[in-house]
Order: sequence, then structure tokens, then C-alpha cells
Amino acid sequence: MIIVTGANGKLGRAVVEQLLKRVPAEQIGVSVRDPNPARELRERGVRVRRGDFDDAESLRHAFEGASQVLIVSSGIMGEADIPHGIQRHRTAIDTAKKAGVSQVLYTSHMGASPTSRFAPMIHHAATEKLLEASGMAFTSLRNGYYTASALMMIGEALKTGELIAPEDGPVAWTAHIDLAEAAAAIISERQLHGTTPNLTGSEAIDMEGIAAIASEVLGRTIRRIVVSDEEFRDRMMSRGVPEASINMRMGMFLASRQGDFAQVDPALAHLIGRPPKSFREVLRESISH
Ligand SMILES: NC(=O)c1ccc[n+]([C@@H]2O[C@H](COP(=O)([O-])OP(=O)(O)OC[C@H]3O[C@@H](n4cnc5c(N)ncnc54)[C@H](OP(=O)(O)O)[C@@H]3O)[C@@H](O)[C@H]2O)c1
Repeated sequence: MIIVTGANGKLGRAVVEQLLKRVPAEQIGVSVRDPNPARELRERGVRVRRGDFDDAESLRHAFEGASQVLIVSSGIMGEADIPHGIQRHRTAIDTAKKAGVSQVLYTSHMGASPTSRFAPMIHHAATEKLLEASGMAFTSLRNGYYTASALMMIGEALKTGELIAPEDGPVAWTAHIDLAEAAAAIISERQLHGTTPNLTGSEAIDMEGIAAIASEVLGRTIRRIVVSDEEFRDRMMSRGVPEASINMRMGMFLASRQGDFAQVDPALAHLIGRPPKSFREVLRESISH
């Protein structure tokens, strides 16, 4: 049985939908913190069990009988949360091993590194070390930066017409649906072992480029305004954004400035057999919904 964690979340649920196109429902199980939002999956024949990375016993039950487990990363709130985040992933990896799986998969990220300026990348790098040390066959999916994250970052700019952010760098924005399709292909065809190539969209775009595309798509000007790191921090602080969140946002700009998310790779296109969705396409879709 294939178990997918985080299946009430955006990526996990999309992976389950893609798996359902490839394997019979009775061979798929989900591990979710709350089974209620997954009722519809149960009605379609998917095994739904409660599983929380903070509760090893619940995971043991949720992973029972698994041959493959996709651990969807649970994320961190900030740098201070890294140790707890690693502990959650350690519990998930240990439980997959005890369940006797033949392959464990994990949603890592392009730019994962113990020295990254962006805290989640340190968290992913530490989890990859745990996977290597586990002795299990593993696949670490080096997912590209979500296009959805870019849309969140420019949400306000689309209203005000001003995209105010510190200096940044190009990012190979990647759509959830493409990453989900790739994950389902990797799981069901047992492709790609170890750390995958970066699974990215086909162009790297910085905030200037995003503002230009958004202007075209919306038919009105979105101006990119570069502010200093200090001014950006002050702006966030005056709006009451918690310091941990400000550090996370700044970390993303510092890492992208260094080119950590700039590399475009054809691996995703090969896996899904078509060009990945462009930033422009995803923006258009989000506006029409
Ligand atoms: N590639 C990127 O650009 C990027 C950007 C942001 C985040 N990420 C990472 O990618 C992951 C998946 O993305 P997404 O868009 O699907 O995010 P999402 O919709 O927020 O889903 C995250 C999932 O993680 C689950 N989760 C959180 N804590 C957990 C715990 N203690 N035990 C078990 N499950 C737990 C959540 O469960 P509930 O549904 O019960 O809350 C949720 O289903 C994120 O969690 C984050 O680690 C990647």
C-alpha cells in the first residue's frame, strides 16, 4: 500500500488525486491529522487513518501495511522551530522504517542546504541527512519553489499596483499540480532513487519579471519598487508581522539573491511528459477563479 501524509494539504491531496489515476484506490492510504476533511477520499476507496508526526503511535497505525510512504514535509514557522520540525520528520522516517516500507519518499526543496539563508532549507537538508542515515531506499524530491508562494507574495501588489520588496533574485517557480503529477509518476513507477534533480518550472523569474507579467495579465501597471532590507523589515514590523515571519520572508529574498532557487532543470518536464505550467498560466488561472 502507498501511504501519503499531509493529504488534507494542497500538495498531498493533489498527489493522491494523481495516484488515483494510476493505481487502484484500495492500494492507496492517507495519513492525516484530521480524518474528517478526507471523508470523500474514504468514499472513493482510499484508506484514511489519523496520523500526526507529533504522535508516533498514531503514525504507526496510519503506516500499517505500507510498501511506500510519501512524507509531505510539515514545514516550520521560523528558525527556532527547526529542531521540532526535524523531530517530527525523524518520527515519520523511523515509523516508516518500522513499518517495513521498501521506499520512503520526502518532499524536499531545491536549494536545501545546512548553510542556507532561508530556514526551511536547513530543515530540509537535515531531513535528507536522516533519510540517508535510515538505511532505507529513499527518494528526496527536490521540489521547485511553489508558484502559489509567489502569488501570495504579490497578493497586495495586485491590489495596490506596487510590488514593494527588497532586492531578490530569479526563482524557478513551480506549480503544485506539476509537482503532484511528478510525485505520482515517481511513486507508481518507482523511478528516481536518492536525491532527485531539481523539479522545477521552465523559467526563473525575479520580482521585476513577476511585476511585468502581472501587468500584462491584469492589463494595468504593477510597479516593482526595491526597498532596503531595513526598510522592508520596518514596514513589516509596523504592520505587526511577527519577527519570526519577517526573518523567514527576508531569508527567502537573501537566498534568492544568491541564486539558490534560480536553476531550471528539465527533469520535471520529462517526468510529466509536457512543459510545466508557466508562472503566467498559473497567475491567469488564479485570477479567473
Ligand atoms: N516548494 C515550496 O515552495 C514550498 C513552499 C511552502 C511550503 N513547502 C512545504 O511543502 C509542504 C506541502 O505544501 P502544501 O502546499 O501542501 O502545504 P499545506 O497545504 O500547508 O499542507 C501541509 C500539510 O502538512 C501537514 N502537517 C503539518 N503538521 C503536521 C504534523 N505534525 N503531522 C502530520 N502532518 C502535518 C498538514 O496537515 P493538516 O492538513 O492537518 O494541517 C497539511 O496537510 C509544506 O508543508 C511545506 O513543508 C514548500
